[in-house]
Amino acid sequence: MRIGVLTGGGDCPGLNAAIRAVVRRATVTYQDEVIGFLAGWQGVIENDFIPLDIARCRGILPRGGTILRTSRVNPYKVPGGVEKVKEVIASHNIDAMVVIGGEGTLGASRELAEAGVPLVGIPKTIDNDVFGTDYTIGFDTAVQIAVDAIDRLHTTAEAHDRVMVCEVMGRHVGWIATYAGLAAGAAVVLVPEEPFDIAQAAARLKRRHALGRFASVVVVAEGAKPVEGTLELPPVEYDAYDHERLGGIGSLVAQELERLTGLEARVTMLGHVLRGGSPSAFDRMLATRFGVAAIDSVHQEDYGKMIGIQGHDIVTVPLSEAVGDLKKVNPALMELIARVFLE
Ligand code: F6P
Repeated sequence: MRIGVLTGGGDCPGLNAAIRAVVRRATVTYQDEVIGFLAGWQGVIENDFIPLDIARCRGILPRGGTILRTSRVNPYKVPGGVEKVKEVIASHNIDAMVVIGGEGTLGASRELAEAGVPLVGIPKTIDNDVFGTDYTIGFDTAVQIAVDAIDRLHTTAEAHDRVMVCEVMGRHVGWIATYAGLAAGAAVVLVPEEPFDIAQAAARLKRRHALGRFASVVVVAEGAKPVEGTLELPPVEYDAYDHERLGGIGSLVAQELERLTGLEARVTMLGHVLRGGSPSAFDRMLATRFGVAAIDSVHQEDYGKMIGIQGHDIVTVPLSEAVGDLKKVNPALMELIARVFLE
């Protein structure tokens, strides 16, 4: 078979591990030929590609980023984009595409699959917000980076009796904030799933410090929003793809906590640090298993599906079930944090 592969959306650690697994499974097990389209769907529309083989994939397993580069280009938002995708795929005699992406990229892939493009999706995003899979590629690494940072913030917070606010990515969901907050012993965790009450957070910190604890870390997801009317937010800005440009809620939270508690507060914004560098062992394994399963699905002509992990098992789920809605943080986990660990 001839197989095309691409990476779309925001990058994350583990993309190269997935590309490598796709290429190895395809070429070693099935003697397929693989080509990689550059910069996501943009590379398909513009017929920009490189041949991929084992030699090209040597040494990429531990590397962050993606050798195929990435973009948020959606063929449905480019005039003539879908026709171009079909034309380019046909011109290469490609039998199937493997699309490694998050919500946006997989959403466009679902529509393309329904329009007759044979493809299989692999879920990746540090946000872990894709339905049908317990984990997406990149999430575990991002959590570990956040935990390492929060551990460091704790020691300097202790030395100064300060409140450290740590802002992490998490546009619509607070998986990173929740996991990192719980794993690193944060005093407050603010997530997009639930509007936060800053006065309540301040009261919690005051109680802690009155009991003689000298370090509090507050983890805030970039997409967390205050209860309406409680905090004034700056005007919203949008990027080239009409996504709200996030980043900065942590500074507002720190300022307000300092004002309400009288405790000195500082802010650290982890931002893209969470998306850079080498993937964790878990993400390398996950990406490898996903890549292998995607090629197996292609050979079973099981198209319009996404590979996922449920428990310990690799599964395939219809793309229509995986996209459309976001996988929010399990309420039981949020309850656990609120009731047991934040008192
Ligand atoms: O979708 C993953 C994500 O990491 C979001 O949490 C974040 O808001 C977004 O990407 C930022 O993307 P960029 O700044 O690269 O456009």
